Amino acid sequence: MKKVLVIGGGGREHAIVWKLSQSAKKPELFCAPGNAGIGQLATCVPIKAMDIEGVVKFSKENAIDLVMVAPDDPLAAGMVDVLTENGIRAFGPCKAAAQIEASKVFSKALMKKYNIPTATYEVFTDSQSAIAYLRRPEQKFPAVLKADGLALGKGVVLPENLADAEAAAVEMLDHGQFGDSSKRIVIEEYMTGPEVTVLAFTDGKTVVPMVSSQDHKRAYDGDKGLNTGGMGAFSPSRHYTPEIAKQCMEEIFLPTVKALASEGIVYKGVIYFGLMLTPNGPRVVEYNARFGDPETQCILPRLKTDLIDIFDAVIDGTLDQVNVEWKEEACACVVMASGGYPLSYEKGYPISGLDEAAEKGTIVFHAGTVLKDGAFCNNGGRVLGVTALGADLQAALDKAYTGVHCIDWKDVHYRTDIGKK
Ligand code: AMP
Ligand code: GLY
Repeated sequence: MKKVLVIGGGGREHAIVWKLSQSAKKPELFCAPGNAGIGQLATCVPIKAMDIEGVVKFSKENAIDLVMVAPDDPLAAGMVDVLTENGIRAFGPCKAAAQIEASKVFSKALMKKYNIPTATYEVFTDSQSAIAYLRRPEQKFPAVLKADGLALGKGVVLPENLADAEAAAVEMLDHGQFGDSSKRIVIEEYMTGPEVTVLAFTDGKTVVPMVSSQDHKRAYDGDKGLNTGGMGAFSPSRHYTPEIAKQCMEEIFLPTVKALASEGIVYKGVIYFGLMLTPNGPRVVEYNARFGDPETQCILPRLKTDLIDIFDAVIDGTLDQVNVEWKEEACACVVMASGGYPLSYEKGYPISGLDEAAEKGTIVFHAGTVLKDGAFCNNGGRVLGVTALGADLQAALDKAYTGVHCIDWKDVHYRTDIGKK
């Protein structure tokens, strides 16, 4: 029996573990650190996602056959490289490849060099040059300023006027708003159009795009409130037509993997293409080096193919031999969060209605829960991702919300307009 260890402990990891649990290979599943929901399907081990040595030690001692590294930080820190050096099979990009997410300067330069469509940009390391650039007469607003490095998804600001843009440049470059991540910043052209996410499996040669999705980043209905890790997602996106898919494959997906290969980097894992469908065609907004959260929660339920076969083919460079198949059904995921998220919130309230939601046919992925005296309690900002398949998007949304309406805890917050954009 294969032993598989998944690194991470959020809703995305629950969805990955859930899909792996359906594998015909009947793997024995472990998750580090996991969460209470994941604990129903896998053995959770108290090792932090960034504890590379701890993960190597556990994998050796327990003869783990495959480690799946899901979050950005351990990928950027080279966990896959260290596991591989230690003879442990690992799924995910190596450190050099993970730079497509860990450094905006790297990813923008790659796209520029290989003519991959994206916003035009300049890189700045001092605020005076950034301010001089922002003061050019042709500068348009909102301006787009991005910290070079990882910043918990908060490293992008879109100031509406020059004063705010200058202040943002000073905050990032002079006041270390995002620590080392904002020692360099990118200022780029503002783009418009629907945003679509496409994740793709790649072994460095073959690229297999997954079904499309869209997420909702703002905390409140009508895209109001602060940015969050994501308040819900759905698949497919109605904007992502077969014609656009073909264009993205030819102009963005394959060229990205080829560009990396030309730079001597074999990318193995999942690439997250954050796309904007502009009036001038699809453009890359950002790359991530991993499955998205909460996009994964609405994508993996649509996957028919055994996920272990895909992971193995990616690692072995044989992805061209796998037929990756999807269900026609749509899927929706509504995130239920702790009241106050993404700012401060209280933890530890018992959650009711989880069984009822399951009886309605929804899949409840846990993002931040803990078991206390046998009861699931909220233990993070994003707590649950209530997910449902349906004949079409509306059916999937209706079903997901039926599940949401079964579930309650003190101060629970969720958006009521997932899938409406
Ligand atoms: P990112 O963290 O790079 O995904 O950026 C966060 C969000 O900022 C994106 O989802 C977009 O909505 C927005 N954004 C980023 N770059 C641009 C751009 N060049 N033009 C317009 N909006 C952008
Ligand atoms: N949902 C956006 C991300 O995973 O980065």
